[in-house]
Amino acid sequence: MLKVAVIGATGAVGQEFVIALNRHPWFELVQMASSERSAGKKYMDALRDPNTSLLKWHNKEKVPENVRDMILNRVEEIDPKKVDLIFTALESEDARVIEPKMASEVPVISTAAAFRYEDDVPILIPGINDEHCELLNIQKKNRKWNGFIAPLPNCTTTGMAITLKPLMDDMGLENVFMTSMQALSGAGRSPGVVALDIMDNVIPYIPKEEEKVQVETKKILGKFDGNSIVNASIKVSCTCTRVPVIDGHTETIFAQLTKPALPHQVKESMTNFSKSVSIKGLPSAPEDYIIVHDDPTRPQPRIDREVNDGMTTVVGRLRKDTVFENGIKYVLLTHNEKMGSAKGAILLAELFKSKKII
Ligand SMILES: NC(=O)c1ccc[n+]([C@@H]2O[C@H](COP(=O)([O-])OP(=O)(O)OC[C@H]3O[C@@H](n4cnc5c(N)ncnc54)[C@H](OP(=O)(O)O)[C@@H]3O)[C@@H](O)[C@H]2O)c1
Repeated sequence: MLKVAVIGATGAVGQEFVIALNRHPWFELVQMASSERSAGKKYMDALRDPNTSLLKWHNKEKVPENVRDMILNRVEEIDPKKVDLIFTALESEDARVIEPKMASEVPVISTAAAFRYEDDVPILIPGINDEHCELLNIQKKNRKWNGFIAPLPNCTTTGMAITLKPLMDDMGLENVFMTSMQALSGAGRSPGVVALDIMDNVIPYIPKEEEKVQVETKKILGKFDGNSIVNASIKVSCTCTRVPVIDGHTETIFAQLTKPALPHQVKESMTNFSKSVSIKGLPSAPEDYIIVHDDPTRPQPRIDREVNDGMTTVVGRLRKDTVFENGIKYVLLTHNEKMGSAKGAILLAELFKSKKII
């Protein structure tokens, strides 16, 4: 068993880490840390809002028994030498300070944006750009670290990149337009989205989100040339919105392909990719990475977000665009806190272990 720590364990993503690590066959959660507000408290006590007494636990699964009485550390109390791997679920400003201190000693898998855009940092999605893992060695050498920082993409990028990868490989990809309808949990717990702002409403702006998705998609789908990542030569344009859905980001995609393709060929491309993807056999890997529905009323967040415990990207409404040449349109659903963050981070750790990177 590898010993792991979670920093930011009380937040929306941190809670998912705690659930996904419970009884994990390869990783044992031995330390947790959160902010000064929570440090020194038992996990259960730190989850309780001091003003309202509400337990700020928003999962259907109960708080696992083994962490209920675990005392939350201060970040400085986490001894990187006593763990094999650290998962971080911090806001970017905190991650920028905390993650390098940890990575100088031990590998860090991060859900924050802080280091995603640096030249020696890959943005990894298991099975999509595994060859970019090579960049971690260059990062370690550049920074003279024993460990590294491996950030996940923004949760809105993940499902889109997963579904675009087979299209790019099989038919070539030129332009992508995406509009997202993003869940509330994507904004985290503190402060999160205020109920009065979102009930009966759609918020048409999420700060910095569109830029992140545009840049990340090109990097993830780019090629590693032995020294650095050469971005994919595609154009990606997005509009990101917040909707009153608890979990699961819905995205409408228009993709302009290089070669003409009929919807059934696009479905076949996604399905074949899903069948042969490199993550097969890892403990957190879903049976299907992508599911394509013919039913035009799917995907829907309430019905589809828990498919394969939130690790499957569910696609529907696959159709030919009748206006633009070689245009294909579809709708996808991706679970922002499962594949899009905590459990996706654990899948990445499993890939690292299988490749002996950790
Ligand atoms: N939510 C999602 O669906 C999602 C998906 C993908 C990526 N992300 C990214 O993941 C990160 C975490 O997001 P989240 O939604 O989980 O946020 P969150 O709910 O606000 O949780 C933040 C966590 O960080 C802790 N924290 C705050 N300041 C700290 C400090 N100085 N030192 C140590 N711990 C500190 C908080 O502890 P206290 O409870 O003690 O305050 C809490 O555990 C963000 O970078 C976000 O962009 C989120």
